[in-house]
Amino acid sequence: MAMTGVLRPGHSQIRVLDLEESVIWYRDVLGLVEAGRDKQGRVYFKTWDERDHHSVILRKADSAGIDFFGFKVLDNVTLEILESDLKAYGVKTEAIPAGDLLETGRRVRFQLPTGHLIELYAEKTDVGNGLGYTNPHAWHPIADHGIAPTRMDHCLLYGRDIDGARKIFEDVLGFKLVERVLLEDGKTDLAIWLSCSTKAHDIAFVRHQEDGKLHHVAFDLPSWEKILRAADIMTMSKTSIDIGPTRHGITRGTTIYFFDPSGNRLETFSGGYDWYPDMQPITWTFDEVGTGIFYHDRKLNERFLSVVT
Ligand SMILES: [Fe+2]
Repeated sequence: MAMTGVLRPGHSQIRVLDLEESVIWYRDVLGLVEAGRDKQGRVYFKTWDERDHHSVILRKADSAGIDFFGFKVLDNVTLEILESDLKAYGVKTEAIPAGDLLETGRRVRFQLPTGHLIELYAEKTDVGNGLGYTNPHAWHPIADHGIAPTRMDHCLLYGRDIDGARKIFEDVLGFKLVERVLLEDGKTDLAIWLSCSTKAHDIAFVRHQEDGKLHHVAFDLPSWEKILRAADIMTMSKTSIDIGPTRHGITRGTTIYFFDPSGNRLETFSGGYDWYPDMQPITWTFDEVGTGIFYHDRKLNERFLSVVT
């Protein structure tokens, strides 16, 4: 698949209750690399293997959750085209000047019908992954510090009008529906998984009575063995595990859901099939939703549908 338009998830600003406790946890348990701090007190992180300046921003707040989720687009021309396409579609956009986020160019922000703030941007400083661009080694010692994911991979958001959110992603931003779970009526989507790339999902939504909620931000790991190692580190650090290690039926990825010190659910994710836009979507019926979400347990835990930030 030629990569044009929206390239990939680029950043997620997460609200945390105790900033310094969170910084230590995101650095030493999750294994992210601190990339900087801004005048507002926000702390920036990247995974060891990401090349752009940051992918996670922590902001101290009175409640946990997500402020916004950003996607990187191919270039500034693409950004301008998508900005004008959003406006033409009736989506109100807000331009955020370059430099508001450290080392990041102009951003175009808009609100989904689910209440979430989504951003597009084209420029973020390439700081590299520490391996260089000439004859690089395969990994760096920092790749063994903590869980050490390779990239911030996707997010799952909860809100009411997931059909409206899907339309914007499909009609304007070029995403495609990859998998869906139907409600009991056999028609309405309970949940949708959308891709802008060859990943099985870049963003997903679950229908929920409250708007603007975060279910999880996910981080990619390269193997099932690394998922198991991540679970070991969670136990060693007394990190609260929601479920796993296990597998999703949907996307077939292996997974652990766990919580940061503020109660934000995160995921370590590995695998999932390669997806191309000529593939037809996969549908899960309501009676098999448990198998779709947690392939081995074959039932949802109470927390999956109720615990969000
Ligand atoms: Fe996920």
